[in-house]
Amino acid sequence: MNQPAGISVAAALDIDRVRADFPILQRTVHGKPLVYLDTAASAQRPFAVLDAMEDFYRKHNANIHRGVHLLSQEATEDYELARAKVAAFINASSELECVFTRGTTESINLVAHSFLRPRLRAGDEILISWMEHHSNIVPWQLLCEETGAVLKVAPMNQRGELEMDVLETMLTERVKMLAIVQVSNALGTVNPVAQICAMAKQRGIPVLVDGAQAVPHQAVDVQALGCDFYCFSGHKMYGPTGIGVLWGRYQHLQDMRPYQGGGEMIRHVTFEKSTFNDAPGKFEAGTPNIAGAIGLGAAVDYLQGLGMHRVAAWEAQLLAYGSEKLSQIAGFRMIGTAARKAGVMSFVLGDIHANDVGTIVDLHGVAIRTGHHCAMPVAEFFGVPATARASLGVYNTIEEIDVLADALDKTIGMFS
Ligand SMILES: Cc1ncc(COP(=O)(O)O)c(C=O)c1O
Repeated sequence: MNQPAGISVAAALDIDRVRADFPILQRTVHGKPLVYLDTAASAQRPFAVLDAMEDFYRKHNANIHRGVHLLSQEATEDYELARAKVAAFINASSELECVFTRGTTESINLVAHSFLRPRLRAGDEILISWMEHHSNIVPWQLLCEETGAVLKVAPMNQRGELEMDVLETMLTERVKMLAIVQVSNALGTVNPVAQICAMAKQRGIPVLVDGAQAVPHQAVDVQALGCDFYCFSGHKMYGPTGIGVLWGRYQHLQDMRPYQGGGEMIRHVTFEKSTFNDAPGKFEAGTPNIAGAIGLGAAVDYLQGLGMHRVAAWEAQLLAYGSEKLSQIAGFRMIGTAARKAGVMSFVLGDIHANDVGTIVDLHGVAIRTGHHCAMPVAEFFGVPATARASLGVYNTIEEIDVLADALDKTIGMFS
């Protein structure tokens, strides 16, 4: 495969080797080689992740934390090792700050329920932005309905960038939580999260960062960001579905009430009263997704092996190439043109409905997403019912973008 011009050899990924790591890329779709451009919805998994999970089920499978027998001890070690890998990956100061959840959605709901709910009074405000995924809107809305608090929305401009001046004026003493996305799944915008956290911190406002689309594509350092909570999903970072992470400052986690009750999260139970485990165990009620956590640990190893700076550099090259290439197509309009963008190209193609675009390019083997991308207010803002979205992963190539461009040309041809 060609490396795009401008990428230094030292920084470049060996893209052929990367592709060989992902068995699904060998398959065909409608008789054409699969071109997978839907990584923002869910990434594909490398052998390293598939093998780690199979190895666990074949050789070590047992429930964790409770058993004295060897298999249980091995399973516990593997599960906790995965937690340590995740913690190191995002530069948490301790693995005890990393709670395994089902994914970003559950992580946000956990913070809404266990951290914010007891602190929220009628008239308080929760501040989000216009470009949030529904999972960073609806949990706060539910909380507002329950408590009489008010959901406030920081605006964005026509390029899909946050209006930072306005955001700053909205950070009043009424705001009890700022919940903000680092990289927008619908627009690709990369928000200046460290700067936003600093502004909020000056005013004593806790910040939750939705990192679902950031962690797979750039190095993340939660301490440098200065946030209070950070949420992400395994399946978007080449790991399994059904596993994700809530990182939180340890004192917050310790101060928070449990999210769910059950086995494992307790210290002592009587019929009169129960006492709870320390974090993170307090938030991991019941048998967790053990194999998922182990698979996530393998995904972390995989990404670290590639080097996040190389991943980011490769995807930036692909994005630059793709944005330029697709802009030459008649009727192509990019939705989301922020100065700082990650590997998401949302677009409309003339007046062809996005679902038609997605269906036709699928016949050429190209998998893209169509619709509102769980960010309906974004579609409304840009005055479109839906967009088509090509999103990049570490395994994509220049040639694949050419295949997409060609398929879009053919789509236009069919409708003209
Ligand atoms: C920015 C963003 N936040 C949150 C989510 C929700 O992630 P999950 O469905 O894995 O909980 C997504 C998924 O697309 C996302 O892109």
